[in-house]
This record gives sequence, structure tokens and C-alpha cells, in this order.
Amino acid sequence: KRVAVLISGRGSNMASLIAAAIDPSFPAEIVGVISNRADARGLEIAGAHSIATQVVSARDYDGREAHDAAIHEALSGMKAEIVCLAGYMRLLSPEFVQKWKGRMINIHPALLPNFRGLDTHARALATGVRVHGCTVHFVTPEMDDGPIIAQAAVPVLISDTEETLGERVLKMEHRLYPRALKLLAEGRARMSNGATVFTNVAD
Ligand code: GRF
Repeated sequence: KRVAVLISGRGSNMASLIAAAIDPSFPAEIVGVISNRADARGLEIAGAHSIATQVVSARDYDGREAHDAAIHEALSGMKAEIVCLAGYMRLLSPEFVQKWKGRMINIHPALLPNFRGLDTHARALATGVRVHGCTVHFVTPEMDDGPIIAQAAVPVLISDTEETLGERVLKMEHRLYPRALKLLAEGRARMSNGATVFTNVAD
């Protein structure tokens, strides 16, 4: 499957997908990376792997729909079949989400449905949960919503700060995202009637 990754910044999750896809037995190929920010560090990483990159800045378009339409055009140009959001920091329009329904996934640094949105690690610490983690889910119009494909948990340590907890979660993200993409690319996880349906997936 041809996969495009949407980023806004660092791109470490994108890098984990690129690394996984280097293995010829991986069922997906990263064919392009699109960023809404020209200064996203992930663009350099993708470039270093000779992966096509494109910057589609919201500033150059009149409104969210026009911006998303430009991203859709870029994805079509790459012949992308699956879209992975990896630290893409803009909410996508319902029209765009509809076009990629069941073919677009996101990684979120919390155990959804807890801690949607930003600052998840600080909020986890403030709430006092003893287990935290990350989630890969299908994208639906609502932010950080949508059927869950995979989750990984990490303990919250008494000594944790936002940074140490965030690092522990991020390491798990890098392992989880390629696994979830593999399930989608192989057709073993799909979205049906607002739920994830698994086939041939061992627990
Ligand atoms: C990750 O924590 C991801 O879960 C969240 O944004 C962060 C992006 O980091 N959606 P990176 O750009 O992948 O390094």
C-alpha cells in the first residue's frame, strides 16, 4: 500500500514508519510526506531517505477547506492509498475526513478516550492516573476520536515529570504506529459502522 504521512513538526513518528517500511516484507511503502509548516524538522528526515516531501501551508489558502483540498491534491499526486497523521497539528475539515474515511489514521499520546487534545502528559500527571500510553485510531471528524486500532500502556512513575513521562510514551508510540499501520495495510483492521473490525489478528 502507498502511504503518505502528514506532519507539522519533529517527525519522530514519521521516522518510525519510514524505518519500518524499509523492511521489504512490510506491507506499506512511505511514498510522500506533507507538512503544513516549511520549518518542520521531519521534512529533513524524509528528504534524507529520498522520500518526496511537500509543504502545503494554510497561509497560502483561503480557509480550511481550500487548504485541505490542496493537501488532497498533493496526496492524489502521490497516489497515496493510506494517510498517517503523525503530529499533524491542524484539525481536518469534515469533507477531507470523509474522503479518507477508513484510510486515514492518527497517533495520539494518551490512552483514548482519556486526554484528547494537547498537553496529555501534564494532564495525566495532574489527574493522577498510574497508567498512561498512546493510541492509534481511525480519523473521524471529531478531534482525537474515532475507532481505536491499537494502544500501548506505560506506567506512570512517582518520580515522573511531563518530560520523562512523555519520553516513555514516545518510545511506545514509535513501536505502536508501525504495528497499527501494518494491520491497516494488510486489511486486518478496517473501519465499519464506526467501529474497528479485526480479521486474523492474534491477541
Ligand atoms: C506525538 O506525541 C504524537 O502522538 C502527537 O504529536 C507528537 C508528534 O511527535 N500526535 P513527532 O512529530 O512524531 O515526533
